[in-house]
Amino acid sequence: MTEDEARSLISQLSADLDRHNRLYYIDATPEVSDAEYDAQFRKLEELEKQFPELATPNSPTQRVGGDAIDGFEKKAHVVKMLSIDDMFSDSEVEDFFNRLVKNLGTDKIPVIIEPKIDGVAASIVYRNGVLDYAVTRGDGTMGDVITENVKTIRSIPIELPAGKFPSVFEVRGEIFMPNAGFAKLNQDREDAGLQTFVNPRNAAAGALKLLDSREVSKRPLDFIAHGVGQLEGLELESVTDFRKLLVELGLPTNDPTWHAETLEEILDAIRQLDVDRHGLEYGTDGAVIKVINRDDQEALGATSRAPRWAAAFKYPPEQKETLLKAITIQVGRTGVLTPVAELDAVFVSGTTVRRATLHNQDEIDRKDVRVGDTVMVHKAGEIIPEVIRMIPEKRPADSVPYSIFDEAKFDGESGRCPSCGGAIEQPEGFVAWKCVNYTCPAQMASKVKQFVSRKALDIDGVGNIVAEKLVERGRVGSPLDLFTLTVDELGAFNIGTGLEPRMLGEKNGAKIVQTCERAKREKPLSKWIYGLGIPQVGQSASAELARIHDSFQAIAESPILNELRTFKTGQKKEDSPFLAPYEIASEIGPTVAAAALEFFNGDIGKAVLAKMTELGIDPKSDNFAPKPSEVEVGSNVPLAGKTFVITGTLSAGRDEIKDQIQAAGGKVTGAISKNTDYLVAGEGGGSKLKKAETLGVAVIDEDGLAGLM
Ligand code: IVH
Repeated sequence: MTEDEARSLISQLSADLDRHNRLYYIDATPEVSDAEYDAQFRKLEELEKQFPELATPNSPTQRVGGDAIDGFEKKAHVVKMLSIDDMFSDSEVEDFFNRLVKNLGTDKIPVIIEPKIDGVAASIVYRNGVLDYAVTRGDGTMGDVITENVKTIRSIPIELPAGKFPSVFEVRGEIFMPNAGFAKLNQDREDAGLQTFVNPRNAAAGALKLLDSREVSKRPLDFIAHGVGQLEGLELESVTDFRKLLVELGLPTNDPTWHAETLEEILDAIRQLDVDRHGLEYGTDGAVIKVINRDDQEALGATSRAPRWAAAFKYPPEQKETLLKAITIQVGRTGVLTPVAELDAVFVSGTTVRRATLHNQDEIDRKDVRVGDTVMVHKAGEIIPEVIRMIPEKRPADSVPYSIFDEAKFDGESGRCPSCGGAIEQPEGFVAWKCVNYTCPAQMASKVKQFVSRKALDIDGVGNIVAEKLVERGRVGSPLDLFTLTVDELGAFNIGTGLEPRMLGEKNGAKIVQTCERAKREKPLSKWIYGLGIPQVGQSASAELARIHDSFQAIAESPILNELRTFKTGQKKEDSPFLAPYEIASEIGPTVAAAALEFFNGDIGKAVLAKMTELGIDPKSDNFAPKPSEVEVGSNVPLAGKTFVITGTLSAGRDEIKDQIQAAGGKVTGAISKNTDYLVAGEGGGSKLKKAETLGVAVIDEDGLAGLM
C-alpha cells in the first residue's frame, strides 16, 4: 500500500469509527456488531502502526489513553464555572419562582426542568471543531487539565461534524459512571481484594484523578452536557437552541426534560422526574430548573456563587428499615469471600431491594451489624443497595456478633470455603478473606482464562465461554487438564446449553489441541509461572522468578527464595552478601518468595509438578541470568541486570517488546527512576521522555534496543 492509499483508508476508517461511536454512545442505534467495530478498529491500529507518521492524536485509536503524567496542570476558566443554589422544599421552589416573576416583571416564565446528574462537573473546549482541552470545575475559577482522561470517554466527540460548529465552543456537563459499569467495577475490585468505591460519583471522581489515561480508559465513564461557557461564532437564544446544537454536534443531551411556565407546572415536573429518574442508567439527586431564554438569563444575572436564573431541587435520599434475615457468603472468581446481607424485601428509591453487599469483616465490625438486626438501608448514590446502620433499640437480646471466619462453613466446619471446603486465609494487607484452594470450582474458570491468555500460554480457541463450560461440566478442574483434551472430545463438546446445544466442532477442537502441544514444547518458564496463577505472583514477578531459576524444580527448592522470605520490612536485598549478586528486582520480595515456595511445596503445587512430569512438560527459562555481573559478553542474555522502561508507539505492541527484553535477560518496569538504565522511546512518548532527561537516563529507540541484544 502506498502512503496516499493508507492516508485515505485511515481517514475513511476514522470517520466510520467516529460515526459508529456516535451511533452507539449517543443515539443508542448501533449499525454494526461489536465484532465488526473491533475489526475496523484493529485495522486502523495496524495501519497506524505501519504508517506512524499518519497517526493523529485525534484518531479513534487514541481513546485508549496515552502515557502517564506526573501531575495535573492548572488552567483558568475563561468564563467562571458557577455553582447552583439548592432547594429542599416546595416552598423554596415557590420563593425561587416568585423571585423570577418579580425580576422579570411577568408571571409566566418559560423554564426547563431536567435531571441533576450526580457526577463530576467538567468543561470541554472545542476550537475550530476539535477538542482542545478539558478542565475540572476546581474552585470555579481554576481547574485541573484532564484532557487526556476526557478523551477516553467514548461519548465525547474528539472532532465535531464539519460545518456545524461555533469557532469556540465550551460545553459544560457532568462526567459520571453509569450504574451498570459502577457495579461491575466494584465487583472486580472486590474480587481483587481492593477497597470498593462508595458510590458512582466517587468512582467517577477517582477515575478522573488517575494520572495514567490508559487506566482511565478502562473505567466506564460517560458524559452528559448541560451548559455552555465560552462561545464564539454563533448566537444561542435559548436553552432550546443549545440543546438543538448539542444534537447537531453529536454531544449527549440531558434527558428527560419538561417545559413549564407556572409554579404548579414546575412542581408537577419535579414530582414526575422523581418517578422517572429511577429508570435512568445513572444516578441523579435532583431536578434543575432553568430559565430558557438567554436574554432573561442575562437580565437575571448571577451572584458570586450561582446564577439567579437556575436552581436545583434536591430529592431527599430515601432510607427504609428492614430486617436482616441472614448473611450469606459469596465466593468470587478470585476466591474472595464476600458477606451479603439477605433482607426482607423493601422498596427503596424506585426498586425492590432484597440483598446488599456487606463488603468484608471490617465493614461489618464498623457498622456492628448482626443477623436478626433491623437495619436502615438506602441506595448509595441512589443506585447501590447498602446497609447504612443497625437500629440498636430493635436488636434481639440473643443476637451475636458476626464472624465471617466462623460462618464460612463446609460440612459444618468453620474457616472453610463454602464452595469447595478448602481452607480460607486473610492475606497480609488484604481486607477480605480468601479461599486459597487452588482447585476451588468457583475460581477455576478465571484460573483457566489466565492460563490460556496471551500473557501466559496463549492457547488459541479457548475463549471465555469455552473455559467456563469446560470447568462447569467438570472436564477441567485444573489448568493442566487442558492438555488431556482430545480433538474428538472437544469437537463434540457442548458449549451451549442443555436446551440449545452448540458443539465446539472438530476444527476448533483441533486448533486447541495443536496450540496446547505447541505451548508444551515452546513456551518458556516465565509464561508457565504466570499461567499457573499462583497467588501474589504476577507477570513481572514471574519473569523475575524465571531469570533467577531455570526450572520449576529450582523454584521449589530455591535457597534464594528461602533466604528472601525471612526478610523483615526495611531489610535490603543489596545488603545481604548472599542475595546481592542476584540483583533481584522489587517485584520479588518476602511475600512473593513465601507465596511461591508455599505453592510449590504444598500439596497443590506438588500435584501440579507431578502432573507436569506425567504430561511431559518441563519448561525451561529463556531469560536465565541469575547473577547479572557474571554474564559473559555474547551470551543469550545480553540485557542481564539492565532495567528498561517503554514509552510511545513502537512497531510492535508493548507486551511484545517487553517479552523480547525479558527474553534477553532484561527487566521492564512501568515508571522511570534513577535505577532505570534505558528508556525505549517510540513516537510521541511525552512525560516519560522529560523525566528521563531530568534523571539522566539514556533514551534509545528500537534500533538502539536491537543493538543491545
Ligand atoms: S447547570 C450555572 N444542570 O450540579 C449553572 N448543573 O451543584 C450550573 N449539575 O456544578 C450548572 N446536573 O456540575 C446544571 N442538569 C444540570 C446539572 C448540573 C448536574 C451539577 C453541575 C454543577 C452542580 C451544582
